[in-house]
Amino acid sequence: MKVIRTIDAIKKVIQDYKAQNKQIGFVATMGFLHDGHLQLMRAAKQENDIVVASIFVNPLQFGPNEDFEKYPRNEQKDTQLAEEVGIDVLFMPTAEEMYPQPMIIQMGITRRVDVLCGRSRPGHFDGVLTVVTKLFHLIQPTKAYFGLKDAQQVAVIDALIQDLNFPIALVGLPTVREADGLAKSSRNVYLSETERKEAVSLSKGLQAGKQLLLSGERDPQRIIDEVTKTIELNISGRIDYVELLSYPSLEQVTSVDQPIILATAVFFEHARLIDNLLLDENGSLITRYN
Ligand code: PAF
Repeated sequence: MKVIRTIDAIKKVIQDYKAQNKQIGFVATMGFLHDGHLQLMRAAKQENDIVVASIFVNPLQFGPNEDFEKYPRNEQKDTQLAEEVGIDVLFMPTAEEMYPQPMIIQMGITRRVDVLCGRSRPGHFDGVLTVVTKLFHLIQPTKAYFGLKDAQQVAVIDALIQDLNFPIALVGLPTVREADGLAKSSRNVYLSETERKEAVSLSKGLQAGKQLLLSGERDPQRIIDEVTKTIELNISGRIDYVELLSYPSLEQVTSVDQPIILATAVFFEHARLIDNLLLDENGSLITRYN
């Protein structure tokens, strides 16, 4: 595995692969790799000639009171995991390398952000789209893989690819979960023992909503109420949102008759956890987005 830290070096490597007509799969991460990331890498490995992964904790996507400084990092372990999974190139630039001067141009998004995490984290998706655009230009992937745990991120990257005509196929893969249903996340390390036990109620709440949909309920508010009730009963934390929206357009619906996202975010003392289910109009889980 080649470990690359500079923009000049990654450009050269990619140029060589392109000259050989290689199909490049790309997995962008902020590191502290877990099974969710590894699943994306394994899929990219199966479906492409070469896999490039990036690890970069992107300062632009963190708000002033968010966890940029203390975001968990473990470069040594990440390098080992990436190597084991068969990554060909691991791109790990510093913030100075990616942003040698404050950005003059930044991406701005006009729709799909006034809901879910976009509403709670103003500017977050502008920062995500700015770094993803830079990474897409540098890596020039054939296919780019993202986890559906961040389904709003997948929806905005889909818009980025379409609006700016990136010749990239977007692949969204399902959330990987712990045995009790908790969505795997680098931020789970922030939870206390009690909170870790309570955190399972995010997925339990969403499952309760899904069951209602499967049993024929089509009223979004009734489904939202069921999810909210299930979560509220079991946590010491505070619900940020429970929402049901069309997917990927992320608009309000009056009745569930199309693919939807049922999503929640909960504040615990040191962590804000998110989870969602992508469901078709009958309530069945959507397991691959592309
Ligand atoms: O999903 C993430 O880890 C980040 O938002 C991403 C896509 C790597 C951009 O920094």
